Amino acid sequence: MQGRLLAFDSGIGGLSIVGALRRAAPDLAIDYLADNAVYPYGELADDTLVARLGALLEDAIAELRPDAVVIACNTASTVALEAMRARFALPFVGCVPPIKWAASLSRSRTIGLLATSATVRRPYLRDLQARFAPDCRLIAHGARGLADIAEIAFRGRPIDRDAIARELDGLFGQPGGAAIDAVGIGCTHYSVLLETLRALSPPGIAWLDPADAVARQAIAVLDGLASGGAATRTPERAWFTADPPDRERLVDRLAAFGFQGVEIVAAPADAARGVIADRHFSR
Ligand code: DGL
Repeated sequence: MQGRLLAFDSGIGGLSIVGALRRAAPDLAIDYLADNAVYPYGELADDTLVARLGALLEDAIAELRPDAVVIACNTASTVALEAMRARFALPFVGCVPPIKWAASLSRSRTIGLLATSATVRRPYLRDLQARFAPDCRLIAHGARGLADIAEIAFRGRPIDRDAIARELDGLFGQPGGAAIDAVGIGCTHYSVLLETLRALSPPGIAWLDPADAVARQAIAVLDGLASGGAATRTPERAWFTADPPDRERLVDRLAAFGFQGVEIVAAPADAARGVIADRHFSR
């Protein structure tokens, strides 16, 4: 499989999808963009996020010339996927909370979702349930702390298991939560914590990580492009919109995903505020 993808998220979360892509299509060229200057996306107003993504992706697409873009972030997908598809000519693949998958597996007909509070409160989620799980009770928890813990775990640093247990209690402790038998991962960051989530939750829960499915969808989209395969013009890079915390550890871990080092690039909104970056995407 030839071609070039741009995968992006607010931080390291989307690397779970990059990992799945690397396994499924090792020859694919992938650039990764982490908009960490405004992490977490889950706390941004919807219109702020849509405007920021439009400007940032316009520059990134002009510079990196991907064949398709993967919004490797549920929060950004639920609010901005349609707007980005309308704005740009190239294909966009997004992440959808795996409600349909959970409904297909659940015997108790009570399914769970862990996601950011933004994803949990959006009407998009209720629409998904109405379409794909109308006979299920959906119990969702907006887990503000988990993405931060995932950023730490990704760097191989010790994590606060009690804090994870508290977030799990926010899900299983809700009325009816004891009946949950399938939980969807509705934030790409949480993939990093999957083993710990499983270990700290009641036995017999199916934990559903959509990373492989998103990767398969991206590959199918590239397959369908007449012009695919132009791709390996420039080295693959991991771009961050601000100097990331614990940078050395991050760089160590990025090597496993095929990236050598990080490049700091100013997002248009931040460049206008005079934020220092190694470079700007040129137009
Ligand atoms: N990785 C993002 C997601 O999938 C969430 C983290 C954030 O709030 O920025 O929703």
